[in-house]
Amino acid sequence: MKYLAFLAALFAASSAFADGQASYLKHCSLCHQADAQGIPGTFPRLMGRVGQIGSSADGAAFMAQAILWGMSGTITVDEVPLTGVMPGVPHVPDEEILSIVEYLATEGGTVKNTTVLNLETIKAARAAGRIPQATTNARRHELFAAGVIK
Ligand code: HEC
Repeated sequence: MKYLAFLAALFAASSAFADGQASYLKHCSLCHQADAQGIPGTFPRLMGRVGQIGSSADGAAFMAQAILWGMSGTITVDEVPLTGVMPGVPHVPDEEILSIVEYLATEGGTVKNTTVLNLETIKAARAAGRIPQATTNARRHELFAAGVIK
């Protein structure tokens, strides 16, 4: 019985991972690329960065805001500046956004970073309502200056 529960848990974990990847490919890969490595100077790399940004409460809150409501302006990623517009995905359900973030924080199937971006953080960002894309970009600059985002 214990063994069955173990198998069920394993199956649930692996299918959640597959769903996150599928959702990522559907909603994000057009810009951030299929391998989530972005395009230097054009689209931010997410793989290897989402877990890092989400490892603090401030970073997680910022990320939920950016993913839901978008962000626009100039930012620096991997020491290369880029100026872009991310539309945001308010039409994607909270649970699905969470699965995408977990997929991105679980690089190649291995948890490389701890993320505190959980369902509550996403729900709070949605409940707070749409935030102007430039405001989220300005918030990103504060977190970058504070070393929360690298
Ligand atoms: C239409 C293109 C596009 C799509 C689709 C898109 N993004 Fe973005 N994303 C961008 C751009 C461009 C930026 C940088 C915006 C800026 O310059 O302010 C960005 C920024 C981000 C950031 C902040 C990165 C940082 O370093 O601050 C995160 C996190 C992010 N996107 C996640 C996602 C996720 C998750 C999805 C899918 C649910 C997604 N994006 C879909 C274009 C896109």
